[in-house]
Amino acid sequence: VKIAVLTSGGDAPGMNAAVRAVARTAFARRWEVVGIEAGYQGLVEGRFQRLDNRGVGGILQRGGTVLGTARSTEFATPEGQALAASRLENAGVEGLVVIGGEGSLTGALRLKERGIKVVGIPATIDNDVWGTDTSIGVDTALNSALEAIDRIKDTASSHQRAHVVEVMGRRCGYLALMSGIAGGAEVVSVPEFEAKPQEIMRAFRKSWEQDKPHFIVVVAEGAPLSAEDIHRYINNTEGAFESRLTVLGYVQRGGSPTAFDRLLASRMGTSAVGALSEAQSGIMIGLEGRRTRYIPLNEVVGQVRPLDSDIYEMAEVLAGFPEEISYL
Ligand code: F6P
Repeated sequence: VKIAVLTSGGDAPGMNAAVRAVARTAFARRWEVVGIEAGYQGLVEGRFQRLDNRGVGGILQRGGTVLGTARSTEFATPEGQALAASRLENAGVEGLVVIGGEGSLTGALRLKERGIKVVGIPATIDNDVWGTDTSIGVDTALNSALEAIDRIKDTASSHQRAHVVEVMGRRCGYLALMSGIAGGAEVVSVPEFEAKPQEIMRAFRKSWEQDKPHFIVVVAEGAPLSAEDIHRYINNTEGAFESRLTVLGYVQRGGSPTAFDRLLASRMGTSAVGALSEAQSGIMIGLEGRRTRYIPLNEVVGQVRPLDSDIYEMAEVLAGFPEEISYL
């Protein structure tokens, strides 16, 4: 049996651990494994490399993806997808493992529709993939964002300043909400629950009146009220904290995966090969509670993992002035 593996979309810490798990589980079955370079773009171009046991050594702890990744416009077209499917067929590939976020899993579904046996593994720092509690890379990115927020809080408290911190997440507020709670932010602003400027400013004034040493706002990059807007509102308010703005950006996406992400990637990679051996296709490996499960890709695609409103409410309460802000 010959299978192929690719990583696609934004890289996420733990992708390498997943590639290694796919390869080693397949080798244990005496299967051959081909690594596809640069995601779907590399697939369209036929950039295949045979993997061996030693070749996937030493990558478990590395961030990024050793296979490379891309956001391919060519593969987005029906012609590109037809070419990709024929590349796999011509190479004698009997199963494909796709490691990536929602866009990548949509690509996997398109290949399944063209008769390719395919299994998806969710990997994105955004935690927006439907059908899994968490995706590979989320835990590492969350810890990176949290470390940055802790550092910013030190300097904020020393100067009695407001700091607005923008975190990644595309259209999803998961990273902002969770890093805001874990980092003790005064306000969290996410796309799913719209925070009004007046509400933020009320919390802001209250913090100043209570003589808080800092005012930390964590803003998701996809929030309607942007980090830049909030920063400007604060600085335009006389006689209160002055604000500094930090956009965390790509530091959240790189770095060595946490133990959680390495273990999740190892389990999902193993499970993906298990699924191919059971002749499964068109599914994604998801995590539900403590167990992995198979979810049809056509359920995953087109849906977005919702953010829990109870957790959002908890963030407000723990910030210490629930009567001042009511987003819900
Ligand atoms: O999906 C992961 C992510 O890092 C998002 O959080 C962010 O919006 C996007 O990718 C950035 O994409 P690019 O790498 O194309 O700049």
